[in-house]
Amino acid sequence: MLLPRPPTSSTSTCRTSSSLGNVLISVLLVANLLAFVALCRQQQHELHVKVHTLQERPSHHRALLGDDSSSRTSSSSSLLNVKILVAIAAYDFSQLPHLEEVLDGYHDLCVSGAIVKVVIHTTVAWPVPLLDLLQTRFPCSQFTMDIVLKLPRIRLHLVDCHRKLFYTHLEEYDLFIYTEDDQRVTPRTVATYLQETNKIQQLILHQEEGHKQYQPADFNVGIVRYEYNFPANMVIDDSTRAATENVTRVYWEHSSFKPPIVPNAMDAVPQHPLAGKYVHMKNHHQGMFLATRALLKAWKDRCQFDVASNRPGQKKNPSQPLFGTQRVWMSSQQLYGNKFGCAVQQVLPLDNFGALTVHHLPNKNYRRVGQYRTRDTNRDEGVVVEQEQLLTAMQLHIALLRAQQQQQPKKKKQVRITMDADPDNPPKAPAQPSWKPRIQAFQAYVERGGIMTEQDMQMTLLPPAED
Ligand SMILES: *[C@@H]1O[C@H](CO)[C@@H](O)[C@H](O)[C@H]1NC(C)=O
Repeated sequence: MLLPRPPTSSTSTCRTSSSLGNVLISVLLVANLLAFVALCRQQQHELHVKVHTLQERPSHHRALLGDDSSSRTSSSSSLLNVKILVAIAAYDFSQLPHLEEVLDGYHDLCVSGAIVKVVIHTTVAWPVPLLDLLQTRFPCSQFTMDIVLKLPRIRLHLVDCHRKLFYTHLEEYDLFIYTEDDQRVTPRTVATYLQETNKIQQLILHQEEGHKQYQPADFNVGIVRYEYNFPANMVIDDSTRAATENVTRVYWEHSSFKPPIVPNAMDAVPQHPLAGKYVHMKNHHQGMFLATRALLKAWKDRCQFDVASNRPGQKKNPSQPLFGTQRVWMSSQQLYGNKFGCAVQQVLPLDNFGALTVHHLPNKNYRRVGQYRTRDTNRDEGVVVEQEQLLTAMQLHIALLRAQQQQQPKKKKQVRITMDADPDNPPKAPAQPSWKPRIQAFQAYVERGGIMTEQDMQMTLLPPAED
């Protein structure tokens, strides 16, 4: 999220400024009772615009985190009627293209069965045509959105506003998501968060005696952000499009740790009930967090998580922050920080890691790898770094596999992806030479039951050697 530079002296927090005339624009979208399939299409629907309060939402008292046996394939069903409050900090329109994607993601949550309220904290009033456009774009009947205007002098404390909102409406929702305006969260991410949170509860419930005992609130299922490493300082058009042939997902915030990736960029979760199944990132900045009602309640007692505190100040000069930025504090450090924060353990399931990664839409922060720790992360001009420094999704995947294989024998898995030459290719046409080694390697991989060899793990380049 882009925020103005921090003011040099006093700051106005969200709490103190919340009485200063918030304008609440409440947009309620009511669609006809559409069949699920029809929801995904453009359909005629009634539009109602009215001011309403959060209390008007229907209340479903169902077990939120019910059946642990629910399989991964039915993840969207675990979203059915889950009441979700999403708070987005979007200072102005400078990230509108990203925000539109973000909103699409939360509307998809509603299409997947959840009851979704989005609250955007911003300092700029939105034009009516944009609001009208969004109403047609978001027809899901259980989706509503409030745009809450804050005075611009709130500046970097805009990121505080979600905290009061969450705790004021704690009893009305099952799940709470705070996020900046530029990371796209999909229904799969949210469904996986709920399933994994439930799994951890079960593990805690069945802890063995003779070990230190933990509470569910000692843990939170985390998020890892990725970008695509587009070439820097280059306009991609028809004549330069080949420049993107190696572009891939990168975990830029985890790139500047010395190898090996495990345990330096990510490591096993040490607490006994979770051993062997979970990892955490060494840099646990997420730009967002998800939390169930039960977790938010527990963290209030544990570490006053209901209070949007200032990031820690220096001992001799408390108005000077000790580290980081307010937004990093509010989205991550206060929760996961050991020394000043709640010391909650971030956990990421080894076997479901990808579902908890989200796209940081600007694709720009990867350019400042190596510098981000000392930088003012409110600014966004970056330094160009060697692409080789960036930790790619494939590299991290392989590092995770290796770490797993040290603990348990290689497990065969069903391979649901196929690759072969099209039998309809002209019979006499010579095969592409670059296909052969990859098809052979793939067939061998399938025969082994979806297990990569050491040689497979070396072949991460996208363009084939001889193309
Ligand atoms: C992509 O990677 C290959 C192999 O390293 C390299 O030869 C090629 O120049 C790269 N392409 C671009 C556009 O950087």
